[in-house]
Amino acid sequence: MAFSCSQRFLFLILSLLATHALEASVGNFERDVQITWGNGRGKVLENGNLLALSLDQFSGSGFQSKNEFLYGRVEAQIKLVPGNSAGTVTTFYLKSPGATWDEIDFEFLGNLSGHPYTLHTNVYTQGKGDKEQQFHLWFDPTADFHTYSITWNPQRIIFTVDGIPIREFKNLESIGVPFPKNQPMRLYASLWEADEWATRGGLVKIDWSRAPFTASYRNYNANGCVWSSGRSSCPANKPWFSQELDFNGKNRMKWVQSRYMVYNYCTDRKRSPQGAPPECKMA
Ligand SMILES: *[C@@H]1O[C@H](CO)[C@@H](O)[C@H](O)[C@H]1NC(C)=O
Repeated sequence: MAFSCSQRFLFLILSLLATHALEASVGNFERDVQITWGNGRGKVLENGNLLALSLDQFSGSGFQSKNEFLYGRVEAQIKLVPGNSAGTVTTFYLKSPGATWDEIDFEFLGNLSGHPYTLHTNVYTQGKGDKEQQFHLWFDPTADFHTYSITWNPQRIIFTVDGIPIREFKNLESIGVPFPKNQPMRLYASLWEADEWATRGGLVKIDWSRAPFTASYRNYNANGCVWSSGRSSCPANKPWFSQELDFNGKNRMKWVQSRYMVYNYCTDRKRSPQGAPPECKMA
């Protein structure tokens, strides 16, 4: 593609403005989250801008947001465990408490050096999930930080990677598909061992001689309707609340799904021999 000088200049200005707008609303780990487990293996660094989680033979580690949200948008830049990360799982997800919980997941399943991470996504409503879609990424997620975000509003859930939508889960209650909408959720993140299932279905085990494993999070930003004492209060400015995919967004999602999706519950005939679940036919 050929851009003229002035187009490039305009693009530069726009990106600078966008970066600036993002920075203005960026959260702080010191203020916004608590490290909840790992006995010192999770660390807040750089005045709250960076959070590093680590995993060794004895424990993984994790943090959670102080706030609970009923709808919102959470995002962070994440740099995953480099090298041989087989058997490790790094997570970034929303979840409500209780036996009939709701949950919206990003899970990064590690792999042997030179083999791709799998980005696993799922949505649970009232304790029932089984809506997995998995992707490989179009970049090496261990070489640098990349931005992962979940937008959750009354109409849909949108998962994005570096601003590119990779999955949309629509509210299709009208055709009987449950959608998370009543239970406030907290943001959780963790690095833990799951070598029974994570890599090539559990065939590749964790290599503890490479421990400790570390994953880093930065530019955390949670913007949502904050739940407190039984009611939620939404910020005045909440573009995510009515966010939907425009033509361009839908096209980019198609691009990702056609090239990088490696598992889709919608097309798993073994699991649904009767035919795909109803929401899959609406896509
Ligand atoms: C690991 O690499 C293999 C082979 O390259 C690939 O099939 C698999 O999807 C990758 N990810 C995981 C988590 O196993």
